[in-house]
Amino acid sequence: MSIDRREFVRLAAGAVGGVAFPGCASVAMMRVSPADGILRLPLQEVPQLVRPGGYLRVQPEGNANPVYVVAVEEGEYVALSPICTHLGCTVDIESNRLVCPCHGSTYDRTGEVLRGPAERALTRYPTTVVDDELIIRLEGQG
Ligand code: FES
Repeated sequence: MSIDRREFVRLAAGAVGGVAFPGCASVAMMRVSPADGILRLPLQEVPQLVRPGGYLRVQPEGNANPVYVVAVEEGEYVALSPICTHLGCTVDIESNRLVCPCHGSTYDRTGEVLRGPAERALTRYPTTVVDDELIIRLEGQG
């Protein structure tokens, strides 16, 4: 039996969507296999991103760190590294901001610093939408 990529993504999201994580228990998570450093998310299969304000934790297969995907405006998405730019802790995503549990740095939904000690924005990965797929380029992701 073979399944196409969209079916795989749908099944993977269903299989792990209810997993809870320390510090971000309510954040849905989706595992996606990158191809050539590119993640493709079929938007009709990701209800968390339908409305502005929604967000999702994406775990690229083979990568150590997840990517936070945020629906900022209608049809506009931001993909962020969760690594705090202060000293490298993993930030938690909350409803309208991202907070570092180590020293309290706070970022807005686009990754810009709201409160230090971090001085630089979270790393943003380039995103585009093509044919109802959100495409994320994981340049520099490790
Ligand atoms: S590592 Fe995030 S605030 Fe220090």
